Amino acid sequence: MVGREELCVYQTPDAPVEARVKDLLSRMTLPEKFGQMTQIERTVASPAAIRDFFIGSVLNSGGSAPFEDAKSSDWADMIDGFQRSALASRLGIPLIYGTDAVHGNNNVYGATVFPHNIALGATRDADLVRRIGAATALEVRASGVHWAFAPCVAVLGDPRWGRSYECYGEDPGLVSEMTSLVSGLQGEPPEEHPNGYPFVAGSNKVVACAKHFVGDGGTDKGVNEGNTIASYEDLEKIHIPPYLKCLAQGVSTVMASYSSWNGSNLHSSYFLLTEVLKEKLGFKGFVVSDWEGLDRLSDPWGSNYRNCVKTAVNAGIDMVMVPFKYEQFIQDMTDLVESGEIPMARVNDAVERILRVKFVAGLFEHPFSDRSLLGTVGCKEHRELGREAVRKSLVLLKNGKNADKPFLPLDRNAKRILITGTHADDLGYQCGGWTKTWFGLSGRITIGTTLLDAIKAAVGDNTEVVYEKTPSKETLASSEGFSYAIVAVGESPYAETKGDSSELIIPFNGSDIVTTVAERIPTLVMLISGRPVVLEPTVLEKTEALVAAWLPGTEGQGMADVIFGDYDFEGKLPVSWFKTVEHLPVNARTNSYDPLFPLGFGLSSKPV
Ligand code: GLC
Repeated sequence: MVGREELCVYQTPDAPVEARVKDLLSRMTLPEKFGQMTQIERTVASPAAIRDFFIGSVLNSGGSAPFEDAKSSDWADMIDGFQRSALASRLGIPLIYGTDAVHGNNNVYGATVFPHNIALGATRDADLVRRIGAATALEVRASGVHWAFAPCVAVLGDPRWGRSYECYGEDPGLVSEMTSLVSGLQGEPPEEHPNGYPFVAGSNKVVACAKHFVGDGGTDKGVNEGNTIASYEDLEKIHIPPYLKCLAQGVSTVMASYSSWNGSNLHSSYFLLTEVLKEKLGFKGFVVSDWEGLDRLSDPWGSNYRNCVKTAVNAGIDMVMVPFKYEQFIQDMTDLVESGEIPMARVNDAVERILRVKFVAGLFEHPFSDRSLLGTVGCKEHRELGREAVRKSLVLLKNGKNADKPFLPLDRNAKRILITGTHADDLGYQCGGWTKTWFGLSGRITIGTTLLDAIKAAVGDNTEVVYEKTPSKETLASSEGFSYAIVAVGESPYAETKGDSSELIIPFNGSDIVTTVAERIPTLVMLISGRPVVLEPTVLEKTEALVAAWLPGTEGQGMADVIFGDYDFEGKLPVSWFKTVEHLPVNARTNSYDPLFPLGFGLSSKPV
């Protein structure tokens, strides 16, 4: 054991962070510095690659896992293996492993999958979101992961965007309030903590990542990775405020956006990444590129990657999510620094920022997984928290054809009820994208409770529950035998560009299923979607009640809790609900605001 007197400053846990950063930086060779700026995907993270290229970070893409249905302990085994390779390097700098834990540790089988951000925005409950962050941090650290690429703090401009569900809403103030996830994930900094300086409270917390800087939610027509046409004042008024709140909470990393601002790609914007984020706003953590974000800067033939590296690193990207061609990235960095096209000062600034976050996160002291946290994964307390979030996120859009005859709460002791629709018994649909895979799946993909499971558990012993995914002719012909029907329809899972839509209709003929049933049986519609979708006039007219349930995740009981009246509806729309796609964009900032349901709308079901 090396005595304290032999320890270098950077190896001394109670030495000031800045002294440790300075000391370690002074000992690093150029290749070691380039390695810290390099993030690679787990499938290319061999021991040799990590060791020989001094790799500073590893990630998994959505759906990239040790194996199908790998549990937290399997993930921890994998990541601890990567870490052993990193610690075997000359200076023993630990790597930081990152993953898209965007609504719980959603890659991992058995983890608690919380409602997606748009649902949390409907709760307007910052403390709830903070508690979800804290629970997520435990489950993430249990799997050996140090860094969650969350929260997405995009301010939604247009629901045609395939990432609408990753947004907390369309109002900058609401989104800013919901950034309390940062304090949950990282821990809450003390009052005196300097604004913009990274903060991580301990080994059961994780590094957070505010993304995607900046204006990703405001692209024209909601085109993913598109162009946000706005004045700088509009950026300051609409898209930057959530980052101010994140910096005040000590967010340790910021991810650059694929999108452009007035035609200039964010990954190449020295003005926004360096002059605004780092200099004006005082951000002292590090900026990570998005996945192959540098490649997006190149011409379609990808011929000038070297030029992309030069542009992006000089603009202010500190760590590059390469994630595969790391040898080329490091070679280009070497050439560019040797030629002076990337100043050494820029490299030192990037590496300092990365080391600062690693010291603040305690990675030098706690580089490996903490197996004592494994019991938190999918634990009862976290699932109850998820259930609470579901309850608070449901937005009641209609309650009774006649206002003086509310339809909800439902009679849990009704004689015979029909449960139908594509989304009544599908856990994958409830969870949506970024769950187990990048785009999400259908079916019993993990441990959880579907709406049907929850209804069966909630109704009385003498209530006959008839379930049909698609209502049969026989059932419809004997419709008079049903007290009421619950029809669950909605979107199939998606992520990013795959979710961009100019129609926004309810898939799988959802509207037809609803009207076919509602014409015969008093019907409650549960809409499982990542955003507002087209509500046909017949759907609005023929149904007795309509609930926006968003993407609730694994804890479906939260839906039964409210529709049967154990709890009242509290959710309020975090986004405006448009009348037709021709009206889009419709948000509280657009002129002639004429929504079907306005921002903040939401009925109560309890008699006043
Ligand atoms: C994706 C997303 C980003 C995510 C990253 C790593 O393309 O844009 O939100 O964190 O790549 O998966």
